[in-house]
Amino acid sequence: MSKTIIVSNRLPVNITIEQDKVYYKESIGGLATGLKSFHEDGNTLWVGWDGLDCEDVPENLKMPIYNELQSQYNCIPVELSSDDINDYYLGFCNKTIWPLFHYFQNTTVFDPHLWNAYKQVNNKFFEEIKKIIKKNDTIWIHDYQLFLLPELLRNHDSTLTIGFFLHIPFPSYELFRQLPWREEILWGLTGSDLIGFHTFDYARHFISSIRRVLSLDAKGQSFYHKDRTVLVDVFPMGIDYKKFNTAINEKDILHANNEYAMKTRGNQVVLSVDRLDYTKGIPERIKAVDLFFTENSDYLEKVSFIMIVAPSRSDVDTYNMLLKEIEELVSHTNGKHGTIGWTPIMFFYKPFPFEELVSLYNLADVLLVTPLRDGMNLVAKEYIASRPDKLGTLILSETAGAATELGEALIVNPNDLQMISHQLKVALEMPKREQIERNSILHKRLERYNIFFWASEFMRKLRSIHLRQTSIKSILLKDQEEINFIKAYKSAEKRLIFFDYDGTLVMFNNSPSKAVPDLELKQILTKLTEDPKNIISIVSGRQKEFLEEHFNSFNVNLIANHGLSFKEQNKEWIETEIVHNDWQKEIRPIIQMFTDNTPGSFIEEKTFSLAWHYRRCDPDLSSLRLNDLRETLLDLTRTMNLTIMDGNKVLEVKDSSVNKGKGIQSMLIHHTDVPFVLAVGDDHTDEDMFHILSEKDYSIKIGTGKTEARFHLPDPSSFRALLNKIIE
Ligand code: UDP
Ligand code: G6P
Repeated sequence: MSKTIIVSNRLPVNITIEQDKVYYKESIGGLATGLKSFHEDGNTLWVGWDGLDCEDVPENLKMPIYNELQSQYNCIPVELSSDDINDYYLGFCNKTIWPLFHYFQNTTVFDPHLWNAYKQVNNKFFEEIKKIIKKNDTIWIHDYQLFLLPELLRNHDSTLTIGFFLHIPFPSYELFRQLPWREEILWGLTGSDLIGFHTFDYARHFISSIRRVLSLDAKGQSFYHKDRTVLVDVFPMGIDYKKFNTAINEKDILHANNEYAMKTRGNQVVLSVDRLDYTKGIPERIKAVDLFFTENSDYLEKVSFIMIVAPSRSDVDTYNMLLKEIEELVSHTNGKHGTIGWTPIMFFYKPFPFEELVSLYNLADVLLVTPLRDGMNLVAKEYIASRPDKLGTLILSETAGAATELGEALIVNPNDLQMISHQLKVALEMPKREQIERNSILHKRLERYNIFFWASEFMRKLRSIHLRQTSIKSILLKDQEEINFIKAYKSAEKRLIFFDYDGTLVMFNNSPSKAVPDLELKQILTKLTEDPKNIISIVSGRQKEFLEEHFNSFNVNLIANHGLSFKEQNKEWIETEIVHNDWQKEIRPIIQMFTDNTPGSFIEEKTFSLAWHYRRCDPDLSSLRLNDLRETLLDLTRTMNLTIMDGNKVLEVKDSSVNKGKGIQSMLIHHTDVPFVLAVGDDHTDEDMFHILSEKDYSIKIGTGKTEARFHLPDPSSFRALLNKIIE
């Protein structure tokens, strides 16, 4: 039976060893706390790091720890050495990706040594997983520490179902492009079937980088790579609503709650809970609290601010410096506003367990969540869910992913201290009726879109996209299929072969006139055409002149203008259809208008068609314009005998009576006795050729996407490799 494996850098359980005694504690951080409920509920195995430096673990403890993790927690540890921890975890993960993806470009470190460590540890994870996976297993990879893992796994076993979820923001292209290893990171992710993000903005930024950095043709929420579709979608992570919502009924938690209430002496309580992180906007928040007390002296001694900061990544300098800054600011604010018997900010630098957090959530009149950037922020959701009384006011930063869902909170700009101070007052004075009104809406959403729903939605989409991949009829021409193909070719007495040109025999060039046959292609064609068994035709959308200029010296037939013009070697061109092009007068000015508005695009005029090329344009702009142009043309041409075709970065309007299928038809009719027929092409126009071939004929699509071809190959270079094998 196939199984599901969760993979993340950090396991839900964190181990420490003190004097040979092993302590197992729950990890903190949204990924671990959130996913834990799903893991405990299902039959998943979780692979990740247990928080130990493997070089420090006494030999006699290694096996017991491994066994305990497996039997009690369903976890498989990946061992990290001190170099791994320094260069991969504290290094590339938390000095490069974390700051850059949270828009802290000034503190981002770009160091090739750290990048190498990142690659090595991703490989380490891969090697561990390799030991336990079987064909058709599902792997769900989490977060920025493992960007390279999907591709490593995909290359190892194409039957795997691979999902990836990013728990932090995906930054805009302008930031992402600064990363020297941007391509490798994106290629790493393309091994996935489904890539999930918390918000639409993150997904949009990712798709934009896929287009711009990898030049992949991403349409809407998906893109094709090699022979697969990769789907990109939005899944805002939820929490275990029921667990939080019912926790206060437990005796211990209620007791702790009463005790906290006594200690805060009936004051109104404002709470904040974060991991120590410069993304959380903690110094700005303390300054806003200072401002609040300065502006509202009537609240002195009446409000207690409880600030919990859980230690995190303290070996990274920026985190260490932040702690000092926070401590200074807290002490400054307390010194300025405090009185004997009242401390405005009660600061705790330690992790709080679930029970204590829930007690505090129930005590707090206001939860102040003001990150400068945050992928989601589960604390905000936990606070609302923990209150069965539906009381309390959430102040939430607009730059937290959670803000897209929790619109009924008081939304603030985390850099606007005045605004935070003002909203604090509004929150402390909000009537209970309004609190219940706002929170009831939030409760409904959190209850429905909880962690289980989130995980099952992700899994459902993942399975359906994976099924779709496997149902694509066309087969990748490799291994046994390739052997059979070459055998069929070699044993045939006569062969009828049709090659498309651009994107099939040569790679695309930004300027079509520069995509000319190179030496390797000329050598291949010479060998192929020297074989008297071969009848070869070049079937292209190009004009006659181009084909003649480059292929006249070869023993090939030329079929230009998508099948309209036909020429046997040493003979004159003949036209296969009578076409009129009066329509061009009407259509050309429209396309011209779009060309003027889309820098980099241009019009190609052919006898029977007009083509709008947009390969050199900004991908986002051209995709907008393309839709507009297509719509406009569809409207205009409704009553004309014209077809609008999407090609490879080209939109072409052409006379409907012309197509490549018709173009090769007469050749097929004249050679019905030929046992081996092959057509190869890369875009929609070539589908007309594939369509008219019989089932036993060979057709190969170069690239990805829907096709009627029997086989496919990823790109022109893999097709050349095949041709080289044939002529050997
Ligand atoms: N957390 C905890 N104890 C603490 C502080 C935080 O258990 O002392 C948990 C908190 O309940 C939440 C998670 O850590 O589930 C923090 O997740 P969030 O999404 O808010 O931020 P992240 O740490 O992932 O950036
Ligand atoms: C965030 C990240 C997680 C990470 C967590 C705690 O939630 O998205 O990947 O595990 O912070 O950070 P740590 O570095 O302690 O794992």
